[in-house]
Amino acid sequence: MTFLYKGDPGRSGEWKQLFAEKAPNLPFRIWPDIGNTTDIKYLGIWEQPDQIADTFPNLEVIFSLGAGVDHLDFTAIPKHIPVVRMLETGISKTMEEYVTLTVLALHRNLLAYVNQQSNRQWQPVRVRPASERCVGVLGLGQLGRTVTCRLASLGFACQGWSRSQRQLDDVTCYAGRTELPPFLRNCEILVCLLPLTAETRGFLSHEIFSQLPQGAGLINVGRGGHLVEQDLLDALDTGQLSQAILDVTEPEPLPRDHPFWTHPRILLTPHIGSMTQPKTAIEAVLDNIARHCAGKSMVGVVNRQRGY
Ligand code: NDP
Ligand code: OXD
Repeated sequence: MTFLYKGDPGRSGEWKQLFAEKAPNLPFRIWPDIGNTTDIKYLGIWEQPDQIADTFPNLEVIFSLGAGVDHLDFTAIPKHIPVVRMLETGISKTMEEYVTLTVLALHRNLLAYVNQQSNRQWQPVRVRPASERCVGVLGLGQLGRTVTCRLASLGFACQGWSRSQRQLDDVTCYAGRTELPPFLRNCEILVCLLPLTAETRGFLSHEIFSQLPQGAGLINVGRGGHLVEQDLLDALDTGQLSQAILDVTEPEPLPRDHPFWTHPRILLTPHIGSMTQPKTAIEAVLDNIARHCAGKSMVGVVNRQRGY
């Protein structure tokens, strides 16, 4: 029984050391040194290897090293092999930092001041308290919940939207398509933390932007496929949206001549919203391996039908 790691090479050494310390009896290999493939029982991946079923006949569990699984080809993964998403405190905490940073940047008009500086302009914008700013988070899962609670603790008027009804302290929660209009009506800053699925592809579109208060800001930290790019450009042109911060694009990186690179009211970051932290992620992986060995259900198993 062996764990094969096929993730970010920059973090492979840290994973190896953690496995050696915490699970010394579980052999650990790093792609591409896969050795005898019949030994592999657990596969930790970001990018999926080809022909999983033929290559690893004794594979029992696939661990996604990230929270999102939209890039995986489930048709090539036999149905009896569960795929487990990364649910761990490190990824949530780093996302909490990113969304706090970017919500505060929009709330305090940082992009406007960056543009002002390049024009040697000195023009204060009226400061409003966080309690008067409504922030809405799309997706109240592992990441959305952590982020929304942090924003609420900073005093923002917080709202969240998810598929099923959720309850969070100090957050007004909405669920399902019918509750989308009242959710959007007040959101001055909209944060997307949805998974990319057949239902959510193209979600950030004119239909959504037109229901926000005029001049709202957008933060997309879900996936590039959520955004209809031309609708964003149009909404920025008309002033329906004032600014956007995009951590994810499709493709990544964008082509060099893409208009987002130079748009004065778009800030791009290179998909660094959050990152799995091996020190904390190892606990989640080993806990799930122990559960699997004991015949118990694992935490974070992807529902293939829902797509997340
Ligand atoms: P979860 O699966 O824990 O949460 C997803 C949330 O979205 C749930 O609240 C779910 O509703 C809701 N949702 C899903 N589909 C719909 C729908 N059709 N309508 C309404 N709500 C819906 O995911 P995570 O919080 O772990 O991660 C979210 C996404 O964040 C990832 O899939 C990935 O794309 C992105 N991500 C981005 C990173 C970055 O660095 N930019 C890093 C990590 C993740 P319900 O609660 O009812 O199930
Ligand atoms: C993830 C990501 O899904 O980093 O974990 O985007």
